[in-house]
Amino acid sequence: MDIEAQKRAAAARAVEFVRPGMRLGLGTGSTAKHFVELLAERVRTGLDVVAVPTSEATRALADRLGIALTTLDETPELDLTIDGADEIAPDLTLIKGGGGALLREKIVAAASAKMIVIADESKWVSMLGRFPLPIEIVPFGATATRRAVEAVTAAAGCPGPAILRKGQNGHAFVTDGGHWLLDAQLQRIPDPQALAARLAAVPGIMEHGLFIGLARTAIVAGPDGVRLIERP
Ligand code: A5P
Repeated sequence: MDIEAQKRAAAARAVEFVRPGMRLGLGTGSTAKHFVELLAERVRTGLDVVAVPTSEATRALADRLGIALTTLDETPELDLTIDGADEIAPDLTLIKGGGGALLREKIVAAASAKMIVIADESKWVSMLGRFPLPIEIVPFGATATRRAVEAVTAAAGCPGPAILRKGQNGHAFVTDGGHWLLDAQLQRIPDPQALAARLAAVPGIMEHGLFIGLARTAIVAGPDGVRLIERP
C-alpha cells in the first residue's frame, strides 16, 4: 500500500464508527479528505448525519459532496469527530495544524464526545516534536509573540526557532480565522503537558497544535494493514 492507500484505508475503517443520526466533526487535511469522500458515499446511499467542518476547505468539499452541514452554534455538542494529525504519540497526544486549521480543529474536537484520529504509519512517533509545532497567533505584535514562544519552549526543555509560516504569495499565511502561524522547530517535546501550559500563558497565542487528551482512538494504516489504538 502506498501512503495515499494507507490514508484511505484508515479513513475507511473510521467510517465504520459512524452511526445514523450522528452529529459529526469533519477534520482537515489529505487524510480527512478521504474520510469526507467515503462518508459522502454512505450519505448517497441513505446515511443520515449532520456535520461541522473544521475549515473552509472541508466545508466546500463536504457541501459539494452532499453532506448536510451545521455549525457549532446550531449544534454545540457533537458525537464524533474524525481528523488527521501530523504526529501521534503512543498516549495519543497529537501535533496538528500542518494544514493551518488547528484552532477550529481543536474547538470541534473539544465539543465532541469522541475524537478518532486517522493516519498513515509515518505519523506514528515515539516522541512528539520532529514535525514543527504549529502555533496560531494574532498578527498584532507577532515578533514579540514569536520571541515569547521561543522563551517558553526553551524553558519547557525544547528550545528551537519559531518560524512565521509563509503562504504561496510570500506573505504570512493567514488562517481561516484571520490569524498567522508560527512553526516551532523543536525536534523533541519531552513533556507536552508542560509545554502546553506554558504556551497557554503567552498573550497573542490563539491556540497551539498540541492536542492532549482529545483523541480517544487512533486508526493507523501501514503496509501490513490497519491497527486500532485506544488511549491508555
Ligand atoms: C490540519 O490543520 C492538520 O491538523 C491536519 O489534520 C494534519 O496536518 C494532517 O494532514 P494530512 O492528513 O494531510 O497529513
